[in-house]
Amino acid sequence: MNDPAAFVEEAIRRLRADVTGRTIVAASGGIDSTVAALLAHQALGERARAIFVDTGMLRAGEVEQVAGFFAASHLPYQLVPAADVFFEALAGVADPEEKRRRIGAAFVRVFETEADKFHCDRLIQGTIAPDWIESGGALRDTIKTHHNVGGIPKDMRLTLVEPLRDLYKDEVRAVARHLGVPEAERQPFPGPGLAVRVNGPITRERVERVRVANAIVEEEVQRAVAAKEIARPWQYFAVLLPVRTVGVTGDNRVHGEAVVVRVVESVDAMTATAMALPRPVLSRMSERITRALAGAVVRVLYDVTDKPPATIEWE
Ligand code: XMP
Repeated sequence: MNDPAAFVEEAIRRLRADVTGRTIVAASGGIDSTVAALLAHQALGERARAIFVDTGMLRAGEVEQVAGFFAASHLPYQLVPAADVFFEALAGVADPEEKRRRIGAAFVRVFETEADKFHCDRLIQGTIAPDWIESGGALRDTIKTHHNVGGIPKDMRLTLVEPLRDLYKDEVRAVARHLGVPEAERQPFPGPGLAVRVNGPITRERVERVRVANAIVEEEVQRAVAAKEIARPWQYFAVLLPVRTVGVTGDNRVHGEAVVVRVVESVDAMTATAMALPRPVLSRMSERITRALAGAVVRVLYDVTDKPPATIEWE
């Protein structure tokens, strides 16, 4: 794909051919699904309804941010509060593949309900090439089951339409810029959200811990970018580990968990390099995270591993 205008024209033509009635569009506020939703809106107008699911696994302030993002993009959408559905599906689940399968299934159940309300049987998704490549298949090993590919239950009642299937992330960004999407350089955020950033069992409390740590990582990176101390990374986030580790506050021993900070540079997420963050930035993150989560998190680690051999996310 080297001509975004030609891609958009062809995608609109195909969407009109594939969707003769109405459709819903899975819209998370991320760049992929926003582009898919805008294409659907251009191709189908009122026959497409964007559905934004609050899974309870979103980052601090994200619901408000995404709502603002859709408003700025003139994209009609509907917010579906579904945190209880997701926490119930994930209660105590620790296995990363099982998490993705349950999240995929929970999304589909929510979308089926919304599709029934909108009287349609089509679901447009912003699936891109790395999602299905890494999800494996006949000839490929499964690196991780992306929730929107391998995580989809076989008995789903909706027919999938995926206009971005053949694109890589940098190509999606080129299309986004062409469509005038604000913040086309926004960092990617996985559909399963903070669930794959909580290593080990999912509980509301552990999701809240990683949400607090993640907000600090984002603030500190954005501050360093604004001060021109570093270039804008590809992704920057926190992961909560289930290890127990000893710390001390005042005279008291604390037995808490550990947070990993992950900051990577990449072009298309297929490979990535751990960024050499200046030490003062790391120290500030560590001080703020252990203070904000005093008693719960006693150690902050920096992940220096490239992809490969690691992946960008921990799960
Ligand atoms: P990995 O961790 O495989 O990530 O190196 C590559 C890119 O994909 C994102 N990612 C996901 N996105 N559903 C998504 O929508 C998922 O299950 C998922 N897993 C990883 C990750 O954030 C990175 O940008």
